[in-house]
Amino acid sequence: MPHSQIDRRTFLAGTAATVLSSGVFAASAPARSTFVAANEEVRVAILGAGWRGGQLAEAFSTANGCRLVAFADPDETLSKALAEKYSATAHSDLRKVLDDPNVDAVVISTCNHWHCLATLWALDAGKDVYVEKPLSHTQWEGRQVVNAAAKSDRIVAFGTQQRSDPLQAKAKKFLHEEKALGKIKYVQANRLGTRASVGKRATPLKLPKTTDYDLWLGPAADQPILRDKLHYDWHWDFNTGSGEMGNWGVHILDDIRNVAYQDSVTTPKSIVAAGGRVVWNDAANSPNVHFAFFETETFPTMITISNLPRTPNEKANKKGKQRGWSVRAGMPVDGPASGYVVVCEGGYYLGQRHKGRAVDLQGKTIQTFKGGDIVPLHVQNFVDSVRARDAGMLNAPVEMGHHSTGWANLANIAFHAGATYNRGQLDSAASLEAWPLLIDEMEQQLAPFNVKPDQLVSSPVLKHDPATEQFVGEHAELGNQFLKRTYREKFVVPEISKS
Ligand SMILES: NC(=O)c1ccc[n+]([C@@H]2O[C@H](COP(=O)([O-])OP(=O)(O)OC[C@H]3O[C@@H](n4cnc5c(N)ncnc54)[C@H](O)[C@@H]3O)[C@@H](O)[C@H]2O)c1
Repeated sequence: MPHSQIDRRTFLAGTAATVLSSGVFAASAPARSTFVAANEEVRVAILGAGWRGGQLAEAFSTANGCRLVAFADPDETLSKALAEKYSATAHSDLRKVLDDPNVDAVVISTCNHWHCLATLWALDAGKDVYVEKPLSHTQWEGRQVVNAAAKSDRIVAFGTQQRSDPLQAKAKKFLHEEKALGKIKYVQANRLGTRASVGKRATPLKLPKTTDYDLWLGPAADQPILRDKLHYDWHWDFNTGSGEMGNWGVHILDDIRNVAYQDSVTTPKSIVAAGGRVVWNDAANSPNVHFAFFETETFPTMITISNLPRTPNEKANKKGKQRGWSVRAGMPVDGPASGYVVVCEGGYYLGQRHKGRAVDLQGKTIQTFKGGDIVPLHVQNFVDSVRARDAGMLNAPVEMGHHSTGWANLANIAFHAGATYNRGQLDSAASLEAWPLLIDEMEQQLAPFNVKPDQLVSSPVLKHDPATEQFVGEHAELGNQFLKRTYREKFVVPEISKS
């Protein structure tokens, strides 16, 4: 297959010291790299062959203009299983894939702590990238990816598939062009879905020999794993994951940035939050109850997250699901359990994955919106953009992903910065009438679990400058310490200058 050839390592020039500390580029990267020309088949490898890797493999295997050629996962039972299913090559080490000139594009569906380093390595190896949400584990490393992507001529897409839903354009037209519900006052978002304890072991989890744990850990700190499972539940350990705020929260906040703000707001100008990991007493540390208020240059957004069922004894339905919490905060209808409400002067737009609904001030439905088959659409949009060599075609370009992830990263920072729960301080953080109503509801829903509000932590208002991506003002130091992490020596995320 003929491929055009270009010089590689454009954006990493000048950062050799940091890059070499990763030990990868000097030793094994190919001397030249290629990119796919128009109408050529894109040869795709999936890095991270877990739950999402399997879903994306299915979508890429049926997309037009691409072919799955390799899988990598430090748990080689997983990469082998998917490789066998799709007649592709299996690797344990992603660097083998990055060294392979027969791979044009990589999909990064690893755990969150690997997203940025894997993206930077992939760009340096000349690959196009589809990276899952959240873009980053810290806001600083996301910025390095944005800088690197801007300097490269590679296509870098972000995995928030709702961006490819035609529903979003219809909702925006309804809200902003037709102004069908009048002026937007604020947004109230929820992820109220139940989960369970991850367990709490007395001795660290032993891993099978088929897993290269050093590679799995990558940039994260080497800490004993005291939960019951290695896979998936890393989400709830801040060493590797970003909690529910950085999981479902990113999808919902990204929808809000798109539909309500029309991408006019990058990140918030202040954040205040409260939360805690309550009831379960397990080995995880991310909050299972978390609520936050984001102030922006235009209207504010509030978000609530809970992984608890409605009551301690809530029975599961036939599908094994329990009912989660609900939030009204002064509205005539419950907000979607997984979605957001754009609260307008003349009614409410209730947005969810796959659907939307507008109701009047009394809660009566006035219009419904139906979504498309978003994962295949999103994957096809990436493949088409790669073949056209046109990042401008992407429905979810990486910088957009950086900003949407930023909202979740900020809410997590406010949780980390939290101390003794201070209801008075929380109330006075915002003048919006619905904010104390929402806090009341969160507190009331904890009561049946015998959880008192003072078992949560709360933050002061952290002022943030979207232009510099730094906290400013009285609590600047409190917030800024969480913008970047310390990396393990072999897996340092390099600093990439803007120009
Ligand atoms: N867009 C969506 O709707 C959506 C849905 C689910 C998950 N996700 C995202 O996908 C990612 C994976 O989530 P999941 O649910 O599949 O978790 P998972 O634990 O099932 O899979 C993650 C996999 O990555 C592997 N991995 C770790 N380090 C790696 C490395 N260096 N190279 C290659 N693989 C490595 C792990 O061994 C594991 O198999 C997460 O970032 C998650 O946020 C997105």
